[in-house]
Amino acid sequence: MIDLTPLDTLYDAGREDDLPLPAELARLYGPLRFPPHPHRPYVIGNFVTTLDGVVSLKAAGHAGGGDISGFDPHDQMVMGLLRAAADAVIVGAGTLRASPQILWIAEQTYRPLADVYRSFRAASGKPQPPLNVIVTARGEIDLGLPVFQSGLVSVLIVTTAEGARRIQAQRPSSAIQIEAVENTSSLSVRSILEAVGRVRPCEVILTEGGPRLMGDFLAEKQLDELFLTLAPQIAGRDNVTERPGLVAGKIFAPQQAVWGTLRGIKQGGSHLFLRYSFESATAAE
Ligand SMILES: NC(=O)c1ccc[n+]([C@@H]2O[C@H](COP(=O)([O-])OP(=O)(O)OC[C@H]3O[C@@H](n4cnc5c(N)ncnc54)[C@H](OP(=O)(O)O)[C@@H]3O)[C@@H](O)[C@H]2O)c1
Repeated sequence: MIDLTPLDTLYDAGREDDLPLPAELARLYGPLRFPPHPHRPYVIGNFVTTLDGVVSLKAAGHAGGGDISGFDPHDQMVMGLLRAAADAVIVGAGTLRASPQILWIAEQTYRPLADVYRSFRAASGKPQPPLNVIVTARGEIDLGLPVFQSGLVSVLIVTTAEGARRIQAQRPSSAIQIEAVENTSSLSVRSILEAVGRVRPCEVILTEGGPRLMGDFLAEKQLDELFLTLAPQIAGRDNVTERPGLVAGKIFAPQQAVWGTLRGIKQGGSHLFLRYSFESATAAE
């Protein structure tokens, strides 16, 4: 038995079919459902933020999401659940640089549930871990990092022609796929998603950001839904270190404000687990 209390569901707008969660995950999270999305992947994001909107402390050794959530086991459980539901997890190179030891697999989140996550994937017909996708324009990526070397995950790097040249100079193993999609310092999310689809057919794609990449997903209306953990701490800001929020590098409001629709609220202690859906350009086509 897992030593974690179930999340309390305060609101759930979902009326769709449940994903085949193992009993332990269903007990801890409740049902997990995504709206129908015929002929295209459903794109979700997952972030944790403080009450004052900080997603990274940007302090040496404390730049990752764990310092934001307080290493909250419910947050780790939800992160694992979403990775376990995903065919691919996409992150920007900044997130890899901030957390260089990470593999984007469920088993590295709430570790007592590792076997349960694996059986969820097996029941979903996804025996292998999600494709780990790294987005970089410059291609200044250290191929010695565990995500590239562990042999546990397939990796796709989506980049520019210049970035691809830099990466090829490190003589990557054949397990690392490289797609050069555009020659611009900001790759379009549409081309990133197409590159992912060429490598692995996807029903659910998860992005864990960071803020720069998340801004691009929102700007192109390529995010169907955001799973946002609200952690009950106030991190503060000063004029010395930039502490980003959910989005960096893009301005939306007031001219192009992005409004979400509440789909769910769960509570675990003083942490809230929110789901917001967004208008998707792909769904409208
Ligand atoms: N609290 C949370 O839930 C959470 C989640 C994720 C990340 N974070 C934190 O956020 C911080 C990183 O922030 P960030 O804004 O630097 O994250 P990021 O979006 O992961 O990284 C930015 C870098 O990724 C590449 N990139 C992103 N979008 C791109 C695009 N459309 N086209 C081409 N390249 C693109 C570029 O890499 P190149 O420079 O290599 O070209 C860019 O410099 C870290 O401290 C991390 O821990 C927090």
